[in-house]
Amino acid sequence: MQEKIIILDFGSQTTQLIGRRVRELDTYCEILPYNKFPENDPSVKGVILSGSPFSVYDDKAFRIDLSKVIGRYPVLGICYGAQFMAYMNGGKVEPANTREYGRAHLTKIDSSNPLFKGIGQGTQVWMSHGDTITSIPDDFKIIASTDEVKVAAYEISGKNVWGVQFHPEVFHTEDGTQLLKNFVAGICGCRQDWSPASFIESTVAELKDMLGDDKVVLGLSGGVDSSVAAVLLNRAIGKNLTCIFVDHGMLRKNEFKNVLHDYECLGLNVIGVDASSKFFSELKGVTEPERKRKIIGKGFIDVFDEEAHKIKDVKWLAQGTIYPDCIESLSITGTVIKSHHNVGGLPEKMNLKLCEPLRLLFKDEVRRVGRELGMPEHLIKRHPFPGPGLAVRILGDITPEKVRMLQEADDIFIQGLRDWDLYDKVWQAGVILLPIQSVGVMGDERTYERAVALRAVTSTDAMTADWAHLPYEFLGKISNEIINKVKGVNRVCYDISSKPPSTIEWE
Ligand code: XMP
Repeated sequence: MQEKIIILDFGSQTTQLIGRRVRELDTYCEILPYNKFPENDPSVKGVILSGSPFSVYDDKAFRIDLSKVIGRYPVLGICYGAQFMAYMNGGKVEPANTREYGRAHLTKIDSSNPLFKGIGQGTQVWMSHGDTITSIPDDFKIIASTDEVKVAAYEISGKNVWGVQFHPEVFHTEDGTQLLKNFVAGICGCRQDWSPASFIESTVAELKDMLGDDKVVLGLSGGVDSSVAAVLLNRAIGKNLTCIFVDHGMLRKNEFKNVLHDYECLGLNVIGVDASSKFFSELKGVTEPERKRKIIGKGFIDVFDEEAHKIKDVKWLAQGTIYPDCIESLSITGTVIKSHHNVGGLPEKMNLKLCEPLRLLFKDEVRRVGRELGMPEHLIKRHPFPGPGLAVRILGDITPEKVRMLQEADDIFIQGLRDWDLYDKVWQAGVILLPIQSVGVMGDERTYERAVALRAVTSTDAMTADWAHLPYEFLGKISNEIINKVKGVNRVCYDISSKPPSTIEWE
């Protein structure tokens, strides 16, 4: 049985991070809304209660019936989680004199406590709280303090319950991983055997069981997630999986051909649909970014739907949805604000059952699974690319000629990054075709042609990004090559804006 840790989400911004850290300990975990604790699930080995934007004494504070977890599983409360358990057991939680935010050091650590095994006095922790526990019930035992906070960590004697005021999941907590390991492996007794190989084995078995002889369609985008989902499903059900790869005409140079070739080499049953003329005609004269996106989104659904219906008796739609897309996070009002997101309304339209084999994985885990499945590195490390493709990198209206121009410039840039060993050092890169012309001189001729902008960013999740500090020599060489080789372009700029306040894409 796949043992697991449940993380109950009380709305903290770091809940996902707790999940990441537990997964890094090769232990499977699920993040669930605070009020969705599963009854009678024998695979649960322990429970973590997250932080929260609320104070425990707030009217709107999220509360649970602690008897569902305490006494039944080992429990670790983090920040609000710790305060909540103290408060509900008769302890006192009060606003701190000064909101404590940032680094602190643990003193008076009870080194004999299993939660602090291998953690030395003075270790740095990360605090982020407005409230503090000022008194604890009799059966609570303080097991660490800081200069400011007396109850920095506690144990409820004999109950298998711990609480920490600081955030072990945050990078700045020096021994945070060790503390979580002490809880997950030492206290909960998890085997730490969750790996890409074990994930593949159990998922393939589950997919076989769930899908039987049913037929499944999956939309491929060339990106990592949908590709890994396809290979996994292929392993489970082989030819009963049909993949559809739609070319909307806004892909990179030779991308349609190359990606199709890759997929065929992977043994996938793929239908490549060249729908570029439909998209070019629908996009003709459209300049407004959101309209472009809508037209492409709807066009994609229409083409996919039409192709899928050519396959007889399809019952399932598979998608490469990953964990961050699924986690239900909670708004301040307690309503679910980010429920399941799926690609552009496909499932509603198609009336198919949904199959999402990667829904429990983080992005880097998807890559590890892909590697374990034997997929080539260039597919796994491919930069993210927006669904609407080059359409959102051509400012102004779109014509086949502009797409060609941009494809050429983009190809020179991307190939250059590969040749200079820079491709894997940036999160993503591309070229933007600007809607302006400027004067230049080539040979003895005056030119009046387009400008392009190069964009390359570093990032860990695309939520924030910095412009990549690419070497001047490299930029100079790429600029020359683009101007010399791409007809219609006589000027190259480099975008040095960060996100925020800019975004990665220009539209
Ligand atoms: P922004 O421009 O918002 O982009 O900083 C963040 C990340 O999302 C990608 N992106 C998209 N991906 N469909 C997608 O599948 C889209 O419409 C879309 N728009 C932006 C972008 O390339 C970056 O990785």
